[in-house]
Amino acid sequence: MPTAVEHPVFSRVYKMVSSWQDAVGGKTHRKKMLSGLEGRVIEVGSGPGMNFAHYPTAVTSVVAIEPEAHMRKMSSEAARQAPVPVELREGAADSLPADDASFDAGVSSFVMCSVPDSSAALSEMFRVIRPGGELRFYEHVRAFHAPLDTLQDLANLWWPKVGGGCNCNRDTLAAIQAAGFQVQECRRFYFLPCPLVAPVAPLILGRALRP
Ligand SMILES: C[S@@+](CC[C@H](N)C(=O)[O-])C[C@H]1O[C@@H](n2cnc3c(N)ncnc32)[C@H](O)[C@@H]1O
Repeated sequence: MPTAVEHPVFSRVYKMVSSWQDAVGGKTHRKKMLSGLEGRVIEVGSGPGMNFAHYPTAVTSVVAIEPEAHMRKMSSEAARQAPVPVELREGAADSLPADDASFDAGVSSFVMCSVPDSSAALSEMFRVIRPGGELRFYEHVRAFHAPLDTLQDLANLWWPKVGGGCNCNRDTLAAIQAAGFQVQECRRFYFLPCPLVAPVAPLILGRALRP
C-alpha cells in the first residue's frame, strides 16, 4: 500500500507559490535540469506537474509518482498538456511501484526535502534507474555557509508544519552520493525571489550517474 500523504491546503498554496517562482527564474532551472534527457524517465513526487512542460521530446515516456491526491489531480491535468506521454501512478518514493533498472533516468525536484526518509527514497531511485542511467536533481538543501545552516536548523522546528512536511535543512547532495550515485555535475546557488522563502534559498541543480 502506498504511504498516505495528505496536504490539501499546502498542495493548493504550493501550486501558486511554485508558479510564481517559476515565472521569476525557476522555469530556467527546470529546463536545465531536464535538458538532454531521453528514453524512459521516472519522476518522483511530481506535485502539480511543474516539470512536465519542459521534458525534451527525446523522452519517450515519463512515469510520475505522486502520493498526495490533490497534487496527483493537478499532475494529471498538467500531463494532458505535456509534450511527451506522462503516466501518473499513486505511490511513494521509499517503495516505488516500478521494476529494477526499468528507467533510463530519474528526476527529483524539491522532493527529497519532503519524503520521510531521503536515503530510502534515493536507494529506490538507484534500484529503478538502469546502470549507466542518470539521476537529475533540482533540490533545496542545507546551506553551504554558516551561520545560515544553524538558522535553517532553527527554522526547521516549524517549517515542516507549514510546508507540507518539507525540511529546509537536509544535505541532499551527500544523500545522493551515499545512495551510490556519482555526481557528474552540480551547481550550488542561492535563489531568493522573496525573503519569505529564505530557509529554502540554497539550491543544488545537477546530474548524477547510476554506475
Ligand atoms: C514541494 S513539492 C514538489 C513538487 C514538484 N516535484 C516540483 O518540482 O514542484 C513535494 C512533493 O513531494 C510529494 N511527496 C511527499 N511525500 C512523498 C513521498 N513519500 N513519496 C513521493 N512523493 C512525496 C508531495 O506530495 C509533493 O507533491
